[in-house]
Amino acid sequence: MKATVRLEELTPDNVLDACRLEVAPGQEGFVAPVARSIAEAYVHPDVAWPRLICDGDRAVGFVMAFFGIPFAYDRGVPGAPARSGLWRLAVAAGEQGRGYGRFAVTAVNDEIRRRGGTLSTVTWRSGEGGPQEFYLRLGYRWRGLTEDGENLGEMDLASPGPA
Ligand SMILES: CC(C)(COP(=O)(O)OP(=O)(O)OC[C@H]1O[C@@H](n2cnc3c(N)ncnc32)[C@H](O)[C@@H]1OP(=O)(O)O)[C@@H](O)C(=O)NCCC(=O)NCCS
Repeated sequence: MKATVRLEELTPDNVLDACRLEVAPGQEGFVAPVARSIAEAYVHPDVAWPRLICDGDRAVGFVMAFFGIPFAYDRGVPGAPARSGLWRLAVAAGEQGRGYGRFAVTAVNDEIRRRGGTLSTVTWRSGEGGPQEFYLRLGYRWRGLTEDGENLGEMDLASPGPA
């Protein structure tokens, strides 16, 4: 990936660029609007990690990770660790297919490792135009369906592998 690509924290200068990002027509059902994600980050400051994906002076996408949330489906597993992973990911319509999504996922997983985590999780909806092939390509393993019908994928960050 080019050296011009990076994640930026949200600031008064870039927050509206983040809110203006739009996915392609037909993809809206797979990710919440960025403004909603930022609102959720505002009320979950301890676990949310929202970042703008930038290339040079262009805002090309938005990613939000979460760190260390105990998950309901882990109840009953003694000593189950709190989980970390991708909460939201959206690459702008005209910017898809250029590696920005892979870059953002890799950056999130680097941050999870930096915080001592060994597992990255993500959930996604099934459907035409959805992100399933993207996540499988990056190395997430399909684990099953959550109670609300989303696909749960996870990647072991402790073993060498993609992303
Ligand atoms: C899913 C999404 C984030 C992917 O981002 P992207 O920048 O287009 O993906 P990349 O260019 O980084 O692709 C990474 C790899 O995945 C592959 N890939 C991406 N989308 C794919 C698809 N729909 N089907 C098959 N492979 C796909 C690419 O070919 C690439 O493979 P390679 O690196 O081995 O050549 C983007 O399409 C998007 O924002 N979609 C709408 C919102 C959404 O679904 N978000 C996820 C919510 S859970």
